[in-house]
Formats: sequence, structure tokens, C-alpha cells
Amino acid sequence: MSEFRGTSTPDELLVIAVRVARDAAATARRMRTEGVTDVQTKSTSTDVVTAADKAVERQVIDALRAERPRDAVLGEEYGDSITPESTPEAGTVRWVLDPIDGTVNYLYGLPAYAVSLAAEIDGVAVAGVVINAATGAEWTAARGGGAWRDGRRLTPSVRTTLDQALVGTGFGYDARRRAHQGAVVAQLITRVRDIRRIGVASLDLCSVAEGTLDAYYEKGLNPWDHAAGGLIATEAGVTVGGLRGAPAGLDMVVAAPPALFAPLHDLLVELDAAGGA
Ligand code: IPD
Ligand code: CA
Ligand code: CA
Repeated sequence: MSEFRGTSTPDELLVIAVRVARDAAATARRMRTEGVTDVQTKSTSTDVVTAADKAVERQVIDALRAERPRDAVLGEEYGDSITPESTPEAGTVRWVLDPIDGTVNYLYGLPAYAVSLAAEIDGVAVAGVVINAATGAEWTAARGGGAWRDGRRLTPSVRTTLDQALVGTGFGYDARRRAHQGAVVAQLITRVRDIRRIGVASLDLCSVAEGTLDAYYEKGLNPWDHAAGGLIATEAGVTVGGLRGAPAGLDMVVAAPPALFAPLHDLLVELDAAGGA
């Protein structure tokens, strides 16, 4: 694949991502069994960070630096760290990491929390892995190579009508944002089969990839929430985007099989799902 420099093919990046993410998931699981410590709050009183979020992110950054010192890393807890220079050249690999996606589940001991790690080249995700650290379930994708779970190639739901669709969503940590998200979901719930709020955006996207959810949407996601899961869903054949032709991003992430994308998209526009705080 000549468009990728040196050893930076999607498959090679995926091998590194899987190895690093497995070690990270093992640390998260071990620290959970030892007891959650150093619980602090971030943007609001319900947005928590634990010693494990920081330790896992530090471990992943150290592993990537040792192996690929020229790459950049964007992690949820420590932000952007570009090594060794501050301005990335075109073609630089950037790793996008959520060390623990689903920290509230982690805090309560609910067995759904994930390490999510993607490799991007020039802003495009080319490799991604999501591991549910509580169960060991692992989803992977390299750009152009399909999406996989434990050796099984993934395909999404074949459902075609929104009123029969099981739809995942999530809510931000800010009360004003939640008020609007709650108003939207109150309308949406009468137009679909049912709603699920698993609490882990990356696992929601993997669920759409494998058809255990028909579709998913959420406003307010950061790159580390959807970089890996978005690639896995896309590679499974899911349409992933924002509203009115925008790419998936902070305003909105919608993931649905092609037949469900337009009806869900249009309903989200009608309900002003990207509005509010
Ligand atoms: C959160 C989870 C949740 C989603 C939130 C995210 P965190 O990530 O993915 O499902 O609804 O928007 O912030 O804080 O547990 O890493
Ligand atoms: Ca997250
Ligand atoms: Ca997190």
C-alpha cells in the first residue's frame, strides 16, 4: 500500500494497537479487582476519572513511545502529546486513545468498560481496536479489511424500518446538555422498538457493527470515544456520519446500516438532536 509510509500500513498499525490495547485492558481489569481508587471529578460532579484511567493512558503512551517514537498521541486524560517535535508532518500517525470508555460502569462494577485505541493518518482512522476489559471481547478493523470479532467477520443488522429498530444512545455529563438529550429521546422512544443506554460509546458502535444494536446516535462525543468504534462500524458496512452531510463529530455521531441511516438521520434532524447545550 504505497499511500502509507514505511511500516505504517493499516495491518501493521493494527497489530501494534491490539498488543498495546490487550496489555492496557489487563491493567484496567486488574486495577478494578484491587478496588477503584483516587476518584476525582472533571467537567461536572458526575464526570469522574480514576487512578486506573490515568495509569492505563500512561501505560499506552509509554508503550507507543517506545515502539514508535515519531508518532503523535491524543488521549482523553493527558491530551495531545506529539513526539518528538511539536508539528506533525503529513503522513504522521496519530494514536487516539480512550483508556477507559465507560468510567461510570467501571466505578460501579458493571461489566462494560473498554479500552479504545485507533491509529489515524492525516485525520483518517486506518486501524482500530476496542476491548471490553471486563469480558475480554475484542473488536478490530484495519481500513479496507473489514471488521472482526474473535475471528468472525462482522455485518450489521438487516432491519429496514425504524419502528422495529433497537437504538443505542448516550448522554453527556453536563445537566443542560442532558435536558435537551432527554427531550429528544422522549420523542424518539415512541418511534423505535426501544432504546439502550449501555454507557460506553465505543461498545455501542461495535454493537451496531455486529448487529446487537440496529443503530446508535449521540451528541457530544470526543474523538477518543468514536475513532476506533467508528472505523469498526464503517468496515462492517455501517454508515457513520453527522447530520446534513457533516462528518461524525462533536455535534452528532449517527451509525446505522444504510437502510436505516436516512430515516434515523431525518428523525434526528426533525427533533433537533444536535441542538441544545
Ligand atoms: C462516555 C461514555 C458514554 C457516553 C459519554 C462518554 P467516558 O465516556 O462513552 O457512553 O454517553 O458521552 O463521555 O467518560 O466513560 O470515557
Ligand atoms: Ca469515553
Ligand atoms: Ca474515558
